[in-house]
Amino acid sequence: MTYGGERIDWEPVKSWVTDWDWLDDGWGENAIDIWNDVREQCPVASTERYGRAFMPVTMEAVRQIANDTDNFSSIWVAVARPDAPRRPAPPITSDPPDHHGHRRLILPAFNPKAVTSIEPDLRAFCRKLITDIGSSSTADAAEQYSQHIPVHGICIITGLPEEDADLFRDWIYRNFQLAPKDNAVRVQVATEMTEYIDVLLRDRLKNPKDDLLTVVANAQIDGQEVDWDVKVGYIRLQIVAGIDTTWSAIGSGLWHFAQHNDQVQRLIAEPNEHDLWSEATEEVLRYYAPVTMARKVLNDVEVSGCPMHAGDQTLVTFPAANHDPKEFERADEFILDRKNNRHVAFGLGIHRCAGSNLARLEMIVAFQEWLRAFPNYSLDASKKVTWANGQVRGPRILPVLTGH
Ligand code: HEM
Repeated sequence: MTYGGERIDWEPVKSWVTDWDWLDDGWGENAIDIWNDVREQCPVASTERYGRAFMPVTMEAVRQIANDTDNFSSIWVAVARPDAPRRPAPPITSDPPDHHGHRRLILPAFNPKAVTSIEPDLRAFCRKLITDIGSSSTADAAEQYSQHIPVHGICIITGLPEEDADLFRDWIYRNFQLAPKDNAVRVQVATEMTEYIDVLLRDRLKNPKDDLLTVVANAQIDGQEVDWDVKVGYIRLQIVAGIDTTWSAIGSGLWHFAQHNDQVQRLIAEPNEHDLWSEATEEVLRYYAPVTMARKVLNDVEVSGCPMHAGDQTLVTFPAANHDPKEFERADEFILDRKNNRHVAFGLGIHRCAGSNLARLEMIVAFQEWLRAFPNYSLDASKKVTWANGQVRGPRILPVLTGH
């Protein structure tokens, strides 16, 4: 490993307890096993790779960090090089008291009524993707399906142009897979996004529409105009929080169901309105929660016996907490109709996901349409599944046999 230059060169992880790295090649596919192994040894793992940074794996530790905004700040929401330049993307990067005003501003766009109204459009969109696959015996359930659905949803709600989907996905890839170790990539992505969003927001000032871009272009908090770079940050957040998150959750669900045809048959025997579909979606969220956040440690503090110091970084490993056997009965089992599923895939505390209504709708519609169209699909064993590492974990290449 070398510090000081623009890039950290990485070596494979030596120990997940003392040398964890969320960009290690082993993370994406094996993260659940990794967290379970670490939890048997200690509640909080550490690494020196990005300066000192911690990885809690129990619900108790995750809950303590997420709920303690005095000691853990959201100005750093990803574990990255300690000298990484960070830009605001509120509300996710803001602490109290500022956080509340930012959150209040964007929440109406994602309220249940606004989200439910796009269901017919989302369903038609999923059907079109399935029609494009046609009668082919093979498909890529990530590249031809899961990656497109959240872009469609977020573009309807924000007004972002859907024809720029490839651009969004490229930014997401570079931002999450490369930027934590490479400041040059981080700056380049931020610059490209800022220039792009700037043009859209300026256009909305002149040509208002019924969309979140227009709300943000004119944003005021308590009668005060919001700073322009904060407005740009709101939209940057929609792109980085609203796309690969749900793309990963849908992809992980499809990866799972491809290997559990008994569960597919149970689901498709029920009407779309039946609770089983929601329960299954919640269990996908619990079991395959894609999003791991982070905080900057502000003061010397102890988490489950582990001392942390001001200036350290820590993950808020929501997906690991979802596998804590102290919190969930038979935590290591995927139970299709699990009841009282109090998972923390959408986080907890003041930063709890603002887009959870949208994410849930996109997931359930995507599952219903895919499983009904391909009731006997399975993984294509002749090809490799690839997973995104790091902050947002999920399948990026997902070759399947459609059963046709
Ligand atoms: C399955 C999909 C999703 C998952 C698992 C997920 C997960 C999360 C998590 C864990 C947080 C907490 C962040 C923290 O504590 O630092 C969060 C916050 C947030 N999410 Fe999501 N998310 C998903 C989809 C979406 C979508 C579709 C949007 C829409 C744009 C979205 C927008 C946001 C925003 C704006 C916040 C910040 C809220 C705040 O700081 O008050 N998310 N999400």
